[in-house]
Amino acid sequence: MTGQICQTGQEAFLKAFHARHPAVTTEAFAGARAADGRSSYAILRDLVAGRRRVLDLGCGDGSLLELLAATPGRRLAGVDLSPDSLALARRRPALSTAALAEARAQYLPFPDDGFDACVSHLALMLMADIERVVAELARVLVPGGLLACVTGAGGGGAGYELLGELLPTALERTPPARRMPTLGDRRTRHPEHLASLLTTAGFAAPDQQTVPLDLSAPPEHVWTALSGLYDFAALDTPALTALREQFLTHATDRTTPSGALPCHFRVHVTTASPDRQ
Ligand SMILES: C[S@@+](CC[C@H](N)C(=O)[O-])C[C@H]1O[C@@H](n2cnc3c(N)ncnc32)[C@H](O)[C@@H]1O
Repeated sequence: MTGQICQTGQEAFLKAFHARHPAVTTEAFAGARAADGRSSYAILRDLVAGRRRVLDLGCGDGSLLELLAATPGRRLAGVDLSPDSLALARRRPALSTAALAEARAQYLPFPDDGFDACVSHLALMLMADIERVVAELARVLVPGGLLACVTGAGGGGAGYELLGELLPTALERTPPARRMPTLGDRRTRHPEHLASLLTTAGFAAPDQQTVPLDLSAPPEHVWTALSGLYDFAALDTPALTALREQFLTHATDRTTPSGALPCHFRVHVTTASPDRQ
């Protein structure tokens, strides 16, 4: 691993999780749509339109970088903790010239002022030592550069509510040692606290909006999307199979006449520029 080797317990959890599920976020969110028909990946792509050198922080399997690569002449880079997710990113022909690094966001292996934009999709809120991460973002962005990030704001709708009813009981039966550690810094999940972290690190006051993403689909598909959440890592195969059966059984009463189980996930979309000349 490049950068300072100071991996936290939560980072070890994330690496182990993504070794088993290297493309899990893309699988859950590539099909989720905002009211204007765009995915949250496409929203970030559009926010950094016209910016040439772009870094994806916590790039995972490279799905956002691939969208960005559709613009000719770009210089793209991505960092992630997970070698398994990065292996998938490296297999994408569109990313053959991208600089993909296994590194911690807290110690970015890039020079000062190296990027015109930095994007981050559902990754910032998982990162420990967040002050150091945002300081690194301010360092690698040029003056006038742009940070555009999507962070999670929680789910809703019948599918999410059903999971909220069933999952705690399933988790109570798992040994504490298997349970998900606390991930990241809670402040990143609240727009006002994230804004404060950014301005303290030298960004100008950010623009922020909350966007609901529609994940409604037949129950089996909703299960596939939601069972990619980190919380499920604690469940062994029999517990997961039992929970899936319970979910699908109870979901039949909650579907719409067209057979869809309503489900949505809200994200905060934040943009900010370093406040220096
Ligand atoms: C929920 S996944 C999102 C992946 C990708 N951005 C996407 O949306 O498809 C979060 C990613 O952030 C990475 N990550 C978490 N903490 C990190 C850190 N401190 N440094 C680098 N990557 C990190 C994880 O390894 C994981 O690939």
